[in-house]
Amino acid sequence: MKVLACDGIHEDGLALFRDAGWDVLVSPPIKDADALKLALADADAVLVRSATQITADALADAGKLKVIGRAGAGVDTIDVEAATARGIAVMNAPDGNTLAAAEHAISLLFALARHIPRADAGMKAGQWPKAGLTGFELEGKKLGVIGLGRIGGTVARKAAGIGMDVAAFDPFLPPSAAAKGSVPLKTLDELLAWADVVTLHIPRTKDTTNLLSEERMRAMKKGAYIVNAARGGLVDEAALLQLLDEGHIAGAALDTFATEPLQEDSPLRAHPKLILTPHLGASTSEAQQAVSTILARQVIDFAATGAVAGC
Ligand code: MLT
Repeated sequence: MKVLACDGIHEDGLALFRDAGWDVLVSPPIKDADALKLALADADAVLVRSATQITADALADAGKLKVIGRAGAGVDTIDVEAATARGIAVMNAPDGNTLAAAEHAISLLFALARHIPRADAGMKAGQWPKAGLTGFELEGKKLGVIGLGRIGGTVARKAAGIGMDVAAFDPFLPPSAAAKGSVPLKTLDELLAWADVVTLHIPRTKDTTNLLSEERMRAMKKGAYIVNAARGGLVDEAALLQLLDEGHIAGAALDTFATEPLQEDSPLRAHPKLILTPHLGASTSEAQQAVSTILARQVIDFAATGAVAGC
C-alpha cells in the first residue's frame, strides 16, 4: 500500500504507516493539476492539510485511490461528492486541533486589544511607538461566538475565564446541549447588535459564505471588532475594508481568507486596522502530532477493515 502525504503531515503519523508496512511518499503541496493527477494515479491513500486541493479533476486518473485523509477539522479542500461517486472514502481528524485553533483565536483577541503587531513592528523599525497604541481591556467586554462546536465552545470557555461576557449563535446546537450549556444563546441579529467582539467558528458552506455581509457588519455596534480563525469567505472582505475605512468596524484579525494563500497585492495586507496571520490556527506541534496520528490510525484501520471514521 502506498500513501502520498502532502502539505507537511507530521512525522509521527507517517511512522505509523511505515510500521504497518506502507510505502510513504512525502510531498510539498501539489498545486499543479497535472502533477497532482499523476501523483494520485499511483496512491492507495492521500493525506492533505489545506494547501493541496483534491478536486474532481485531480481524481480523474486515481484508479487505485481508496481513501483521502484531511489532517484537520474540515473537509472543504476536498470534493467529497466526486470522491464518493468514485467510491473513495474521505476522512478528517476533527478533534486533534481544537485547542490550537481556539488558542489562536484568543491570541488574535489579545493582539487586537493591545495592538501587539503594530507595537512590535514599530520597535523593530527603531521607534518607541507608545503614542497611538492605547488598547482596551477584554475583561467585561461582550464576546459573540458564532458557532458553538468544539472550537467555538473552547473559545467561549477560555474567554469566560478571562472575564469576558460571552454569548453565542448556533442554530445547529441540539436543544438538549443548549439547555445544559453555560453560554447564553442569541439569534444572529441579537448577537451582532450585542457584541463588542465577534469571533467565527463555523465551516464555510454555501449558506455561510459571506455570513458577515456588509449589511450584517453594519448591524454590529460601531467600534466593534471581528476575529476569523475559522474559514476564509465567512467575512465579506471588500465590505470589511470599507467598514474599517468608515470606522464602523474598529479592527479585525483574520487567519483565513477567501483565497489562500492571500494574494501578494491584496488590499487587506496594507490596512492598518487589520491583523493578519497565514492560516496558523492548527499550526502547533501538539495539534499537528495529534491530527497526523489520529488520521494515520483511521486510514490504516480503514484499509484493513473498511471502517470509516472522522467527519
Ligand atoms: C483545519 O481544517 O483543521 C485546518 O485548516 C487544517 C490546517 O491548517 O492544516
